[in-house]
Amino acid sequence: MRKLSLAVALLVAPTLAQAWPWSQDMANVISIKPGESVDSKQAGMQPFPSRSVPVKGTTVFVKDMDAARNMANPVAANEQSVAQGEQLYNIYCTPCHGQSGTGDGLVGAKLIMTPWNLTNSNDMHTWDPKEYPDGYIFGYMAMGGAVMPSYANDLSPTERWHVVNYVRKVLQKAQPATAAAQAK
Ligand code: HEC
Repeated sequence: MRKLSLAVALLVAPTLAQAWPWSQDMANVISIKPGESVDSKQAGMQPFPSRSVPVKGTTVFVKDMDAARNMANPVAANEQSVAQGEQLYNIYCTPCHGQSGTGDGLVGAKLIMTPWNLTNSNDMHTWDPKEYPDGYIFGYMAMGGAVMPSYANDLSPTERWHVVNYVRKVLQKAQPATAAAQAK
């Protein structure tokens, strides 16, 4: 008799287990389920987080490199902007341009072309803002180069200006590029 009841208990155990609430706990956490909405006006149509879906057209927001060059930097290079720029630079640019900005990143070393030097020790050209204005750096991020990929989809225009501010204020040390070049 005891054996029989044990057998019965074992048989129904999985069924009971399925019925117990803990088996559904993971599914019943407080969260938005597919087809549910946080917006009562659009029940079942919750908005996607911004920039999580493809957008129509281009995200470059600038026609070409010439147009980019002529853009004035609308973001003040204050402490906050430079700090945000640093964070973004460390994520998106260091693999190639390196923490120093000279182009000594680990990924950059594997490319067919060494990433160019973003600091004042660039021997191809100085970073004189008259010849290479903020818009040039902004445009390079938007459009990329021959080897460098475009960061238009990763960095919003405002984020790109933050990176520009970081490059200018920290990597190029805020000193006039021409003065640095003359000092050489
Ligand atoms: C996958 C490697 C790679 C990454 C990541 C990368 N670059 Fe570049 N970058 C290059 C290469 C290579 C060049 C040389 C020019 C070319 O590719 O046409 C370059 C050139 C540049 C130039 C032109 C420099 C000059 O002397 O005229 C700028 C400005 C620039 N990069 C900025 C950035 C910024 C800012 C980031 C981060 C958002 C970034 N790059 C991320 C590879 C990279």
